[in-house]
Amino acid sequence: MSSFPAEKPFSNGSPEVAVRRFGSTRLGAPVDEYTLTNGSGVSTSILTWGGIVRTLIAPDRNGKPADVVLGFDSLEPYEDRHPYFGTITGRFANRIARGTFTLNGERYTLAINNGPNHLHGGIDGFDRTVWKARSESTDDAAKVILSHTSPDGDEGYPGEVQAQVTYTLSNDNSLRIDYEATTSKPTPINLTNHSYFNLAGHDSGDVLEQELMIDAAQIVPVDETQIPTGVLASVAGTPFDFTKFHPIGERIAQVHGGYDHTFVVSGDQPGLRLIAKALDRNSGRSLEVLTTEPGVQLYTGNFLDGSLSGKRGARYHKHAGFCLETQHFPDSVNQPNFPSTILRPGETYRQTTVYRLGVSE
Ligand code: GLA
Repeated sequence: MSSFPAEKPFSNGSPEVAVRRFGSTRLGAPVDEYTLTNGSGVSTSILTWGGIVRTLIAPDRNGKPADVVLGFDSLEPYEDRHPYFGTITGRFANRIARGTFTLNGERYTLAINNGPNHLHGGIDGFDRTVWKARSESTDDAAKVILSHTSPDGDEGYPGEVQAQVTYTLSNDNSLRIDYEATTSKPTPINLTNHSYFNLAGHDSGDVLEQELMIDAAQIVPVDETQIPTGVLASVAGTPFDFTKFHPIGERIAQVHGGYDHTFVVSGDQPGLRLIAKALDRNSGRSLEVLTTEPGVQLYTGNFLDGSLSGKRGARYHKHAGFCLETQHFPDSVNQPNFPSTILRPGETYRQTTVYRLGVSE
């Protein structure tokens, strides 16, 4: 029997969690996969390696299921370097200029892994660690709770950080991600999930005709190494204006390299709010994104080149998926005008993001 969840009949009962051994790392650590299934036809599988969302299976308007995230069938390609398919990225999602910052008069040097800069927590970040896991299910949701202790000095960061990430799949077809962290010393923290969505199915080709709306009046402009210049820019009259639905590909040729930018989410009331919607008119599948974060990185899989062999042999070419990585702004530690990303002992970092699937007629 194949364990690929797409072949499981949709449940029409209570949410449930199934766990299986997915593999072992090269150092021999066991990696499990938790499959959460809700009562209304959606399932997702989460790996303890990197907290990866490996599958997300959703029906189209006719009830036909497809797996709408990019990924792999086995552990090996995830343990090799890959473009963060579905991972939890941390301790600090996105870039820190030259991998350095000063905090309380002390200068810290981080791992450099992206040109001259630090990206997504470094060489062995939260995306490349085996998280502890436990699961729960209730009448309206199934969840897996991941936890990880990052030692003082990990990838150059100060403080021992205790992180917890809870994935909850509920009967309203929301995949909710709650992040929490505490620290033993002041330290920057900025967690996100790096899923690549393709609402027509992970193996359906590019996402350029899928439509997107982002409630953002500004973006965070970056220099040639993708570090913020420090000013925010209006989207009005630019290819970054997604305040109304636009096909992702409509204006992408005008953006050097494709979209890989942080959008400044509008609205200053705290708490969870709807910030983006994506729609595939052919299948009818839609995705709403709600978050507590001030920004969202739209990345359109610009570096995918068909060389990776994905699930069931799928080839992921340029723009095969889009990421909506909810987060604080890049390089916030070096940008005094950006919202702070410093967590101090005694405080709890919290971020919540919901990816809500739907169908339209
Ligand atoms: C992020 C970055 C991109 C790229 C991808 C992974 O989204 O902003 O530049 O590094 O991760 O390939």
